[in-house]
Amino acid sequence: MPFRARHLLGIEHLAPDEITTVLDLAERYVDLNRRTIKRTDVLAGMTQINMFFENSTRTQASFELAGKRLGADVMTMSVAQSSVKKGETLIDTAMTLNAMQPDLLVVRHSSSGAVNLLASKVNCAVLNAGDGRHEHPTQALLDALTIRRAKGRLQRLTVAICGDIAHSRVARSNLILLGKMENRIRLIAPSTLMPSGVKEFGCEVFDDMAEGLKDADVVMMLRLQKERMDGGFIPSEREYYHRYGLDAEKLAFAKPDAIVMHPGPMNRGVEIDGTLADDINRSVIQDQVEMGVAVRMACMDLLARNLKAERGRVAAEAGA
Ligand code: NCD
Repeated sequence: MPFRARHLLGIEHLAPDEITTVLDLAERYVDLNRRTIKRTDVLAGMTQINMFFENSTRTQASFELAGKRLGADVMTMSVAQSSVKKGETLIDTAMTLNAMQPDLLVVRHSSSGAVNLLASKVNCAVLNAGDGRHEHPTQALLDALTIRRAKGRLQRLTVAICGDIAHSRVARSNLILLGKMENRIRLIAPSTLMPSGVKEFGCEVFDDMAEGLKDADVVMMLRLQKERMDGGFIPSEREYYHRYGLDAEKLAFAKPDAIVMHPGPMNRGVEIDGTLADDINRSVIQDQVEMGVAVRMACMDLLARNLKAERGRVAAEAGA
């Protein structure tokens, strides 16, 4: 099972075979999570600290459950955004936690690059639970598992990613992952919500849903991230819904068996119609949440194995 990473900071650092390793192992955890007794001892005796400098519901809950089901001692710190600043303060926090000897550190932060910085200062394995607009690797991996299970493969699919791409770390991690696995990616957004330079990722760019959704196997909707907007990016939510909100009528432009995804939290009636989001024949949104726990278990399992092996080597060298 190839998985060479020491930290999980972004999809950009993973090779296709490592992505497949995570997904294959996660499949086993999907089965375990459907049993009554969900506990294993893969992380028994290890300490996992979750530090969320930015609000989260599903990602935080999912990492917490994942750690507990693997048998780790789990502590979650919700750090109020206002009390934390970049630079010294973040590093100080990291050093303090490092002194408590955690084995796994799960971090979400509003600044792109903050998690990488932190990883360079500690000697445990660090998992990025979302940093600014940069990356959200476990989200892309859980999306990949959801797609692979629904479509039977993770290659040669046409995936449309629609909405607030400019502010989205989910879009960025998905773009990188789906590109590495050789899929065709179509980005659909008004020009104000399309980041510059996206073409270098080799994707097609559209500002019209009818054109962009054509032949899509997967339609991935994104939340309008109002907290990251500092100006008028859209004329009004009503107008946005009219042009870009996914409803049954617009979904009809995609393939008849296209699946609908959304990382959550959803703005119903803004980027997606509530009835469509709940339609279990088209929407895999709840599957994404279920896959989230399994994928995070797989990631932590693999990182813990590498950490144990590394510590074993260091101990052996010290003893030699
Ligand atoms: C996403 C995030 O936080 O980046 N949510 C999540 O992790 N499920 C997307 C979002 O906030 O819109």
